[in-house]
Parts: sequence; C-alpha cells; structure tokens
Amino acid sequence: MGAWPIAKKSVCALAAFLSIASAHASNDTEMALDIAKKNACLGCHAVSKKIVGPSYQDVALRYRNNPQAIAFLKNKIRNGGMGSWGVVPMPANSKLSDSDLTLLTQWILHGAPSPN
Ligand code: HEC
Repeated sequence: MGAWPIAKKSVCALAAFLSIASAHASNDTEMALDIAKKNACLGCHAVSKKIVGPSYQDVALRYRNNPQAIAFLKNKIRNGGMGSWGVVPMPANSKLSDSDLTLLTQWILHGAPSPN
C-alpha cells in the first residue's frame, strides 16, 4: 500500500522531466529567438543586414573558425562594449543567465536561423 503514492509521484516527475528535456532538444532555435526578442537584441541586430550592430550572419562568418568564439561572445553580450565592428558600443546585458547566453551565442554562430 504505502509504496504506491511514491511510485506515482516519481512517474509524474519523470514524465515532466522528459517533456522538458525533449522540448529543450528540439526548440533551442525557438528559445534563442525568444530570448533575443525579450532582450531587445533584434532592435539593434537583424539576421542578414546591419542595423545598429552587425548582422548575426556577419558575426557567424567572422567567428566561424574561432574556437574562442563562444566564450568571447558570451562575455561581450553580457558586458557590452565596442571596437569589434566600430565605435558604437553595445550596452551590457547583465541579467541574462549563463545558459541563456550560451543558447543565444550558439544560435548566432549558426547564423541565427529561424525556427523550421
Ligand atoms: C543598443 C543596440 C544593441 C543592442 C540592444 C544589442 N546589441 Fe549587440 N551589438 C551592438 C553593437 C553596436 C555591436 C558592435 C560592437 C563592437 O563593435 O564591438 C554589437 C555587437 C554584438 C555582437 C558581436 C560582438 C563582437 O565583439 O564581435 C554580438 C554577438 C551581439 N552584439 C549580440 C547581441 C545580443 C545577443 C543582444 C541581446 C541580448 C544584443 N547584441 C543587443 C548593438 C546592440
């Protein structure tokens, strides 16, 4: 008798975990786009043309052979700064979590694809 409620609970926990895990695997692009929208990145960056900042395709092209790119760009997005593309600075985005920064940076380095 006593064991059943525990088993039921862990089945639910497992189901919840699996749905989060699979959503994560298939929707990284969607999540990255969502984070970019929520943090106003797309006000200054477009996928394929320069606005205030460089296009994400230009960023992907510039860093395509750079093994330090992820670490460098995560830091740059978090702290802001200038000098890579010109004298206009990017403001800091200090509220982004490390995992959000990783997701965003990987998405940008893939040329910021649209979902589907
Ligand atoms: C107010 C405008 C503005 C906003 C908002 C903004 N950026 Fe930028 N971003 C810039 C500018 C300007 C540069 C060029 C900086 C430079 O020359 O070093 C830049 C550069 C970059 C680079 C390339 C950095 C490098 O050193 O090569 C990346 C990647 C980037 N931004 C991502 C983001 C992301 C992700 C967000 C949202 C969290 C964001 N940006 C929000 C203006 C902006």
